[in-house]
This record gives sequence, C-alpha cells and structure tokens, in this order.
Amino acid sequence: MDAKSGTAGTITVDGKSVDMPVKGGSIGPQVVDISKLYAQTGMFTYDPGFTSTAACESKITYIDGDEGILLYRGYPIEQLAEQGDFLETCYLLLYGELPTAAQKADFDYRVTRHTMVHDQMHRFFQGFRRDAHPMAVMVASVGALSAFYHDSTDISDPQQRMIASMRMIAKMPTLAAMAYKYSVGQPFVYPKNDLDYTANFLRMCFAVPCEEYKVNPVLARALDRIFILHADHEQNASTSTVRLAGSSGANPFACIAAGIACLWGPAHGGANEAALKMLEEIGTPDRIPQFIARAKDKNDPFRLMGFGHRVYKNYDPRAKIMQKTTHDVLAELGIKDDPLLDVALELERIALSDEYFVEKKLYPNIDFYSGITLKAMGFPTSMFTVLFALARTVGWIAQWKEMIEDPSQKIGRPRQLYTGEPKRDYIPVAQRRA
Ligand code: CMC
Repeated sequence: MDAKSGTAGTITVDGKSVDMPVKGGSIGPQVVDISKLYAQTGMFTYDPGFTSTAACESKITYIDGDEGILLYRGYPIEQLAEQGDFLETCYLLLYGELPTAAQKADFDYRVTRHTMVHDQMHRFFQGFRRDAHPMAVMVASVGALSAFYHDSTDISDPQQRMIASMRMIAKMPTLAAMAYKYSVGQPFVYPKNDLDYTANFLRMCFAVPCEEYKVNPVLARALDRIFILHADHEQNASTSTVRLAGSSGANPFACIAAGIACLWGPAHGGANEAALKMLEEIGTPDRIPQFIARAKDKNDPFRLMGFGHRVYKNYDPRAKIMQKTTHDVLAELGIKDDPLLDVALELERIALSDEYFVEKKLYPNIDFYSGITLKAMGFPTSMFTVLFALARTVGWIAQWKEMIEDPSQKIGRPRQLYTGEPKRDYIPVAQRRA
C-alpha cells in the first residue's frame, strides 16, 4: 500500500461491522476496496453504468475529467499529438516508455512487415453485401483473423501475444481500407511498405490501380494526429468489453472484435457518424435553436451528438486539438466556406453559453469535429467509426495485455440485483390460464 492508502472506516450492515480499506493510485481519486464485502456481509454493491466503480488497476491512461486532462503513460495528449507520431504512441501504450530512435525504427519495421492479410481474406470479403456497413465487416473480419492466424492465439505464450498484437495493429488499416474499397466496388489496394503507417492507409483507401496516387503529407499528418487522439481512453465501454471478453481466456482477435462491436454504438464510437448526420440535418445556423430546444426537451429522446461525456465535465482536451486539425485540413484542401463547419461553430457557441448545457457541463467532445475533418478528407460517414476502431486497437491491445499479464487476474463476473419472480412451480401448458 502506498502513502495514500489506509482504512476508510467502518460500515455496519445488518449489525455486522466491516472495515473498508482504501487504495490510492499515483494520481486521481482513491478507491474503496469492496472485494471482500460480499464474503463479510452477504451484500453486493449496486452501480449500474459503473459510475462509481473502478474495475481494475491500470498504468496506461489517466483522465481527469474535471480538469480536461488526458495522459498516455503520463504524457499529455497535447504533447504527443503535437510532437509525436501514431506508431510512437503505439509503442508507448504497449511498452510503457517512449522508444529510443533504434527501438522506434525496429518497431516501425515490425509493424510494417505485418501489413498484408492472408490472401484468402479477399475471398472472405466477397461474402458480404456491397452495402454492408463497414463496421459490420470489421467486426466479422477482425474476428475471422483468429481463423487465419492460429499460430498467435495461445494467450499463455508471451511471444504469441506479442505477434498477435503486432498483427492487429498492422492489419487494421489494411482491413479498414478493404472494407471501404469493397463498399465502393473498387479493387483492393495492397499495402506499400515504404510508406509510413498513415500514408499507407490513405493510399490503400484512395489509390486506384489505373493512376498514380501521391499521398498529401498534410492530410497524412492530420490523420496520424487523429489516430493519436483516439488511441486509448482508459476503461470506456469498448475497452471494458475487451477486458471482459479477454478475462475468460478468449483469443485476442476475438476480444478486439468484441471491442469493435461495442464501439459501434452511437453513444460511443458511433457518435462521430451521428454528429455529422446531425450537422447535415441542421443544415443552416438559423435552424440551430429548434435542435437545441429538442435536446433540452425531456420528452424528446434527441441529444446533441458530439456533446457530453461520461468522464469529461470540462472541455474534452482531444476536441481542442481536433478543432485545430479540422481547420488545418480544410485550409489544405482549400475549403473556405464549409456550411457544416459554420453550423458546427455556431452550435458550439450557442451550446457553450446555454444554461442547460453549462449547468450539465456538456462540452463538445472529440466526435463533434472529427466527422467534419474525415468527410473533408474524402471518407464517407460510414467509415468514421471504422477509423476510430483502427486507432483504438492499440489501446484495446495494451489494456488486454496488461490484464493477461496481471497474476491476480480472474474472470470478470458482475453480480446483479434480481427483481424477477421468486421461485415458483412449472404449470403444464394445458393448465395455464389465458
Ligand atoms: N444532449 C442533450 N442532453 C444531454 C446530452 C446531449 N448530448 N448528453 C447528456 N445530456 C443530459 C442528459 O439528458 C442528462 O440530463 P438529466 O440529468 O436532466 O437527466 C444529463 O445530461 C446527464 O446525461 P447522462 O446520459 O446521465 O450522462 P452519461 O454520462 O450517462 O452519458 C454520453 C454520456 C456521452 C453517453 C452522453 O453525453 C451522450 O449521449 N452524448 C451524445 C453522444 C456522444 O457524443 N457520444 C460520444 C462520447 S465521446 C467518444 C467516446 O468516448 O466514445
């Protein structure tokens, strides 16, 4: 136990007194360790949505939602996004330290050498409808990697764990680009390993065999930065899904496929797609007030997509960087008057001064701006969450590895407050009353 740890005090349940130990992390709130509560009192705790529950110890990512701080392995997201590149961030998340120049060169080389997918994956893709949502294709194709790479599914072997990790980081751009190409009816473009990670991905998405394709370095840098911003976000829904799936001993490809499925939802990774659709639906700044009114109406399920966050009760630090990246991309592409950006800026201005949003601390989140940027780069809305999944893969893997390598790890098994029927006897169908 470190300096912050100690005993919180005693709670009395049904006449039994129980000491509740407190554990302190390196920064952030302390936790009350209730792991012995059931054994000592016969009671569970109740916390739907895990709003007050830490499910694990982790050394990877730290968020201070009140201050708007995000750190990967202690490094502020602003510094990493400004000065680093995505593969360096991957190395940092996986190994805990920034790489030396030699380590970085070796890591980049290893990732690059795994970018191709088994050629039979091409046949696997042919089974999908052309109009399938690319996230559906990603859930299936990443899950299917375990059917193609049997030599890296033994989670008890550290070497296999590492190869599976490298394979997933390297192959996600290839699969994501294939999902896109398939949806537009163009031939798959093989990776080109003399390009860097993000430039290679842009080429696999937008090159066609009949023309030379030159990667725009400004767009590649902007997308690389977007990947850094999305690389990890501690114990969010998809990461918790990956950990829970992995806690049973499932292979890493299956676990990441589970994470992708969870990410798809509009309250999580699907929000960037939903935010852009909302901006398009609003259309012009004069229509904003009616959408704000709907968002505030308790009887209307509509929410302002791209606003609010479970953890950030201050400006999402990623949104600030994203906003700048949006302007860089639009300037590079010569888009001066983007009506969506006009709507976004005005919506942001109104929401940030509106009592409802101020009181509930609903600030723009990263998804508010990422959609505009990705659209300007040429990605269709259906690909937005795919790009999020691509970038988040390293975070999921780092969290999965951390869990597997923790000797105290056990299968995740939440309990429940049962509110159904108590025990009753079976009635044969002929005797049941209509
Ligand atoms: N528009 C209007 N009202 C909102 C919004 C919104 N976007 N978000 C929250 N509220 C209200 C909500 O109605 C509730 O009001 P009340 O207290 O009167 O019932 C209050 O704010 C608290 O909301 P909550 O649903 O209890 O908060 P939560 O922490 O469970 O939800 C959230 C967080 C992100 C799911 C939610 O803010 C939301 O649905 N936002 C829109 C979707 C979105 O942009 N998601 C992307 C999140 S960032 C990317 C990622 O990490 O995946």
